[in-house]
Amino acid sequence: MFVCNCNAIREIEAGTAIKTGARDWVQVHAHFGHAPCCGKCAPEIMAMISSAEPNSSSETPLPMTMS
Ligand code: FES
Repeated sequence: MFVCNCNAIREIEAGTAIKTGARDWVQVHAHFGHAPCCGKCAPEIMAMISSAEPNSSSETPLPMTMS
């Protein structure tokens, strides 16, 4: 599935760019030698970046239970 239709960047490719250090949607495009066009992909790419950050809510440990 493409995350950026303008530049044919797939979700898995954006994930690779994020893993290698891209920290905003422009950097994800730059990773592939592209420049953003319409901006429609910005929210989705920024959500991917947020969820990949170490302190994102998706990686918050579950509370421990006492037994
Ligand atoms: S969809 Fe990414 S710049 Fe248009």
